[in-house]
Amino acid sequence: MNNNIEKLQKMIDESEKIVFFGGAGVSTESGIPDFRSADGIYMMDYKYPPEKIISHSFFVEHTKEFYEFYSKHLYAPGAKPNAAHYKLAELEKVGKLSAVITQNIDGLHTAAGSRNVYELHGSTLRNYCMKCGKSFDVEYVCGCNDIPRCSCGGIIKPDVVLYEESLNDTTVNGALKAIENADMLIVAGTSLTVYPAAGFIRYFKGKNVVLINRDATEMDERFGFIIHGKVGEILSQIKA
Ligand code: APR
Repeated sequence: MNNNIEKLQKMIDESEKIVFFGGAGVSTESGIPDFRSADGIYMMDYKYPPEKIISHSFFVEHTKEFYEFYSKHLYAPGAKPNAAHYKLAELEKVGKLSAVITQNIDGLHTAAGSRNVYELHGSTLRNYCMKCGKSFDVEYVCGCNDIPRCSCGGIIKPDVVLYEESLNDTTVNGALKAIENADMLIVAGTSLTVYPAAGFIRYFKGKNVVLINRDATEMDERFGFIIHGKVGEILSQIKA
Protein backbone atom coordinates (compact mmCIF):
# COMPACT_ATOMS: atom_id res chain seq x y z
CA MET A 1 0.00 0.00 0.00
CA ASN A 2 1.71 3.28 -1.02
CA ASN A 3 1.88 6.36 1.20
CA ASN A 4 -1.13 8.03 -0.44
CA ILE A 5 -3.33 4.97 0.04
CA GLU A 6 -2.08 4.60 3.64
CA LYS A 7 -2.90 8.27 4.32
CA LEU A 8 -6.35 7.87 2.72
CA GLN A 9 -7.00 4.69 4.73
CA LYS A 10 -6.04 6.45 7.97
CA MET A 11 -8.41 9.34 7.22
CA ILE A 12 -11.24 6.90 6.49
CA ASP A 13 -10.50 4.85 9.62
CA GLU A 14 -10.80 7.94 11.85
CA SER A 15 -13.98 9.26 10.15
CA GLU A 16 -17.58 8.19 10.60
CA LYS A 17 -19.54 10.73 8.57
CA ILE A 18 -17.83 10.60 5.20
CA VAL A 19 -19.43 12.32 2.21
CA PHE A 20 -18.40 11.50 -1.35
CA PHE A 21 -18.75 14.12 -4.09
CA GLY A 22 -18.19 12.72 -7.59
CA GLY A 23 -18.42 13.36 -11.30
CA ALA A 24 -18.15 11.65 -14.65
CA GLY A 25 -14.65 10.35 -13.84
CA VAL A 26 -16.23 7.90 -11.37
CA SER A 27 -18.00 6.12 -14.27
CA THR A 28 -15.20 6.00 -16.87
CA GLU A 29 -14.00 2.67 -15.39
CA SER A 30 -17.53 1.41 -16.18
CA GLY A 31 -16.94 2.29 -19.83
CA ILE A 32 -18.85 5.60 -19.83
CA PRO A 33 -16.73 8.44 -21.26
CA ASP A 34 -16.53 11.65 -19.22
CA PHE A 35 -17.13 15.09 -20.76
CA ARG A 36 -13.95 17.18 -20.81
CA SER A 37 -11.07 14.70 -20.99
CA ALA A 38 -9.32 14.26 -24.33
CA ASP A 39 -11.60 11.31 -25.11
CA GLY A 40 -14.62 12.94 -23.47
CA ILE A 41 -18.08 13.47 -24.96
CA TYR A 42 -17.52 17.20 -25.41
CA MET A 43 -14.37 16.64 -27.43
CA MET A 44 -16.17 15.04 -30.39
CA ASP A 45 -17.41 17.01 -33.44
CA TYR A 46 -21.12 17.78 -33.65
CA LYS A 47 -23.32 20.06 -35.75
CA TYR A 48 -23.93 22.17 -32.61
CA PRO A 49 -21.77 22.75 -29.47
CA PRO A 50 -22.52 19.77 -27.18
CA GLU A 51 -23.28 21.93 -24.14
CA LYS A 52 -25.89 23.70 -26.30
CA ILE A 53 -27.45 20.38 -27.33
CA ILE A 54 -28.07 19.36 -23.71
CA SER A 55 -29.76 22.66 -22.88
CA HIS A 56 -33.45 23.27 -22.17
CA SER A 57 -33.94 25.59 -25.17
CA PHE A 58 -32.38 23.04 -27.55
CA PHE A 59 -34.58 20.29 -26.11
CA VAL A 60 -37.65 22.45 -26.84
CA GLU A 61 -36.58 23.72 -30.29
CA HIS A 62 -34.70 20.66 -31.65
CA THR A 63 -36.21 17.76 -29.73
CA LYS A 64 -35.35 15.13 -32.36
CA GLU A 65 -31.68 16.18 -32.56
CA PHE A 66 -31.58 16.35 -28.75
CA TYR A 67 -32.68 12.72 -28.51
CA GLU A 68 -30.26 11.62 -31.24
CA PHE A 69 -27.36 13.03 -29.17
CA TYR A 70 -28.83 11.97 -25.81
CA SER A 71 -29.50 8.34 -26.82
CA LYS A 72 -26.06 8.03 -28.40
CA HIS A 73 -23.92 9.75 -25.77
CA LEU A 74 -25.76 10.07 -22.46
CA TYR A 75 -27.56 6.75 -22.25
CA ALA A 76 -25.24 3.91 -21.26
CA PRO A 77 -27.15 0.62 -21.63
CA GLY A 78 -25.34 -2.28 -20.02
CA ALA A 79 -22.91 -0.08 -18.01
CA LYS A 80 -22.20 -1.72 -14.65
CA PRO A 81 -20.96 -0.23 -11.35
CA ASN A 82 -17.17 -0.40 -10.87
CA ALA A 83 -14.95 -0.79 -7.81
CA ALA A 84 -15.47 2.84 -6.82
CA HIS A 85 -19.28 2.49 -6.70
CA TYR A 86 -19.09 -0.79 -4.76
CA LYS A 87 -16.57 0.49 -2.20
CA LEU A 88 -18.72 3.53 -1.46
CA ALA A 89 -21.77 1.30 -0.99
CA GLU A 90 -19.70 -0.86 1.38
CA LEU A 91 -18.57 2.20 3.39
CA GLU A 92 -22.21 3.26 3.70
CA LYS A 93 -23.22 -0.24 4.80
CA VAL A 94 -20.67 -0.29 7.65
CA GLY A 95 -21.91 3.14 8.76
CA LYS A 96 -18.86 5.21 7.76
CA LEU A 97 -20.28 7.00 4.72
CA SER A 98 -23.38 9.18 5.15
CA ALA A 99 -24.00 10.27 1.54
CA VAL A 100 -22.94 10.06 -2.06
CA ILE A 101 -23.40 13.31 -3.98
CA THR A 102 -23.04 12.77 -7.71
CA GLN A 103 -23.16 14.91 -10.85
CA ASN A 104 -23.68 11.71 -12.86
CA ILE A 105 -26.99 10.65 -14.38
CA ASP A 106 -26.21 6.95 -14.89
CA GLY A 107 -27.71 5.56 -11.67
CA LEU A 108 -24.61 3.40 -11.01
CA HIS A 109 -24.22 4.38 -7.32
CA THR A 110 -27.74 3.12 -6.57
CA ALA A 111 -27.14 0.05 -8.73
CA ALA A 112 -24.04 -0.72 -6.60
CA GLY A 113 -26.15 -0.63 -3.42
CA SER A 114 -25.69 2.95 -2.16
CA ARG A 115 -28.90 4.17 -0.50
CA ASN A 116 -28.34 7.82 0.34
CA VAL A 117 -27.48 9.25 -3.08
CA TYR A 118 -28.04 12.86 -4.12
CA GLU A 119 -28.22 12.98 -7.93
CA LEU A 120 -27.60 16.70 -8.48
CA HIS A 121 -28.17 16.45 -12.24
CA GLY A 122 -30.96 13.87 -12.13
CA SER A 123 -31.00 10.42 -13.72
CA THR A 124 -31.49 8.96 -17.22
CA LEU A 125 -33.39 6.14 -15.49
CA ARG A 126 -36.32 8.45 -14.70
CA ASN A 127 -38.41 9.84 -17.60
CA TYR A 128 -41.87 11.42 -17.58
CA CYS A 129 -44.55 12.74 -19.93
CA MET A 130 -44.53 16.55 -19.93
CA LYS A 131 -48.31 16.57 -20.39
CA CYS A 132 -49.71 13.96 -17.98
CA GLY A 133 -46.66 13.12 -15.87
CA LYS A 134 -46.71 9.39 -16.64
CA SER A 135 -43.34 7.67 -16.00
CA PHE A 136 -41.34 5.78 -18.63
CA ASP A 137 -38.18 3.69 -18.42
CA VAL A 138 -35.00 4.65 -20.23
CA GLU A 139 -35.19 1.65 -22.55
CA TYR A 140 -38.47 2.93 -23.98
CA VAL A 141 -37.23 6.53 -24.29
CA CYS A 142 -33.90 5.70 -25.93
CA GLY A 143 -35.39 2.89 -27.98
CA CYS A 144 -37.62 5.25 -29.95
CA ASN A 145 -36.37 6.23 -33.42
CA ASP A 146 -38.32 9.45 -33.22
CA ILE A 147 -39.30 11.81 -30.39
CA PRO A 148 -40.60 9.59 -27.53
CA ARG A 149 -44.24 10.33 -26.87
CA CYS A 150 -46.83 9.25 -24.30
CA SER A 151 -50.15 7.70 -25.31
CA CYS A 152 -51.71 11.04 -24.32
CA GLY A 153 -49.64 12.69 -27.06
CA GLY A 154 -47.29 14.48 -24.65
CA ILE A 155 -43.51 14.51 -25.23
CA ILE A 156 -41.48 12.45 -22.76
CA LYS A 157 -38.57 14.25 -21.02
CA PRO A 158 -35.70 12.65 -19.07
CA ASP A 159 -35.47 13.62 -15.39
CA VAL A 160 -32.05 15.14 -16.12
CA VAL A 161 -31.08 18.73 -15.28
CA LEU A 162 -30.29 20.33 -18.64
CA TYR A 163 -28.32 23.57 -19.00
CA GLU A 164 -30.66 26.55 -18.34
CA GLU A 165 -32.61 24.41 -15.83
CA SER A 166 -32.28 24.64 -12.05
CA LEU A 167 -31.31 21.82 -9.72
CA ASN A 168 -33.97 20.22 -7.53
CA ASP A 169 -34.24 22.16 -4.22
CA THR A 170 -34.77 19.07 -2.05
CA THR A 171 -31.73 17.36 -3.58
CA VAL A 172 -29.57 20.48 -3.17
CA ASN A 173 -30.63 21.07 0.45
CA GLY A 174 -30.02 17.43 1.35
CA ALA A 175 -26.60 17.44 -0.29
CA LEU A 176 -25.51 20.67 1.39
CA LYS A 177 -26.69 19.43 4.79
CA ALA A 178 -24.72 16.20 4.34
CA ILE A 179 -21.57 18.14 3.42
CA GLU A 180 -21.98 20.56 6.35
CA ASN A 181 -22.32 17.64 8.80
CA ALA A 182 -19.50 15.56 7.31
CA ASP A 183 -16.22 14.88 9.10
CA MET A 184 -14.54 13.80 5.85
CA LEU A 185 -15.07 14.83 2.23
CA ILE A 186 -13.84 12.69 -0.67
CA VAL A 187 -14.04 14.53 -4.01
CA ALA A 188 -13.35 12.38 -7.08
CA GLY A 189 -13.62 12.13 -10.84
CA THR A 190 -14.69 15.69 -11.53
CA SER A 191 -13.12 18.71 -13.22
CA LEU A 192 -14.97 20.96 -10.70
CA THR A 193 -15.88 23.35 -13.52
CA VAL A 194 -19.69 23.29 -13.47
CA TYR A 195 -21.68 25.38 -11.00
CA PRO A 196 -23.57 25.37 -8.73
CA ALA A 197 -22.38 21.78 -8.11
CA ALA A 198 -18.66 22.60 -7.92
CA GLY A 199 -19.37 25.30 -5.34
CA PHE A 200 -20.96 22.82 -2.93
CA ILE A 201 -17.60 21.58 -1.66
CA ARG A 202 -17.05 25.01 -0.06
CA TYR A 203 -19.68 24.03 2.55
CA PHE A 204 -17.37 21.38 4.02
CA LYS A 205 -16.07 22.39 7.47
CA GLY A 206 -14.42 19.16 8.62
CA LYS A 207 -10.76 18.17 8.91
CA ASN A 208 -10.19 15.37 6.39
CA VAL A 209 -10.57 16.22 2.71
CA VAL A 210 -9.05 14.51 -0.33
CA LEU A 211 -9.29 15.00 -4.10
CA ILE A 212 -8.89 11.81 -6.16
CA ASN A 213 -8.66 12.78 -9.83
CA ARG A 214 -6.79 11.63 -12.90
CA ASP A 215 -6.02 15.17 -14.16
CA ALA A 216 -5.49 18.54 -12.49
CA THR A 217 -8.64 20.54 -11.72
CA GLU A 218 -9.39 24.27 -11.39
CA MET A 219 -9.68 23.85 -7.63
CA ASP A 220 -6.50 21.86 -6.89
CA GLU A 221 -5.13 24.66 -4.69
CA ARG A 222 -8.09 24.18 -2.30
CA PHE A 223 -7.00 20.62 -1.50
CA GLY A 224 -4.17 19.83 0.89
CA PHE A 225 -4.26 16.18 -0.18
CA ILE A 226 -4.60 15.14 -3.84
CA ILE A 227 -4.17 11.63 -5.29
CA HIS A 228 -3.78 11.62 -9.06
CA GLY A 229 -5.04 8.32 -10.42
CA LYS A 230 -8.07 6.19 -11.21
CA VAL A 231 -10.64 6.38 -8.42
CA GLY A 232 -11.85 2.79 -8.90
CA GLU A 233 -8.31 1.41 -8.62
CA ILE A 234 -7.57 3.62 -5.61
CA LEU A 235 -10.75 2.89 -3.64
CA SER A 236 -10.44 -0.85 -4.37
CA GLN A 237 -7.32 -0.76 -2.12
CA ILE A 238 -9.27 0.70 0.81
CA LYS A 239 -10.64 -1.50 3.60
CA ALA A 240 -14.08 -0.44 4.75
N1 APR B 1 -10.49 8.27 -11.96
C1 APR B 1 -10.31 9.55 -11.51
N2 APR B 1 -10.55 10.64 -12.26
C2 APR B 1 -10.98 10.44 -13.53
C3 APR B 1 -11.18 9.14 -14.07
C4 APR B 1 -10.92 8.03 -13.22
N3 APR B 1 -11.08 6.77 -13.63
N4 APR B 1 -11.61 9.29 -15.35
C5 APR B 1 -11.68 10.62 -15.59
N5 APR B 1 -11.30 11.30 -14.51
C6 APR B 1 -11.30 12.75 -14.28
C7 APR B 1 -10.82 13.57 -15.44
O1 APR B 1 -9.43 13.82 -15.31
C8 APR B 1 -11.64 14.86 -15.31
O2 APR B 1 -10.92 15.83 -14.56
O3 APR B 1 -12.66 13.10 -14.09
C9 APR B 1 -12.87 14.44 -14.51
C10 APR B 1 -14.16 14.49 -15.32
O4 APR B 1 -14.43 15.85 -15.58
P1 APR B 1 -15.65 16.21 -16.56
O5 APR B 1 -15.54 15.40 -17.79
O6 APR B 1 -15.67 17.71 -16.65
O7 APR B 1 -16.94 15.69 -15.79
P2 APR B 1 -17.71 16.38 -14.59
O8 APR B 1 -16.76 17.14 -13.71
O9 APR B 1 -18.53 15.35 -13.94
O10 APR B 1 -18.67 17.42 -15.36
C11 APR B 1 -19.61 18.10 -14.56
O11 APR B 1 -20.60 18.97 -16.58
O12 APR B 1 -21.64 19.02 -18.64
C12 APR B 1 -21.82 18.88 -17.29
O13 APR B 1 -23.73 17.83 -16.50
C13 APR B 1 -22.45 17.56 -16.94
O14 APR B 1 -22.41 16.55 -14.75
C14 APR B 1 -21.59 17.06 -15.79
C15 APR B 1 -20.85 18.31 -15.35
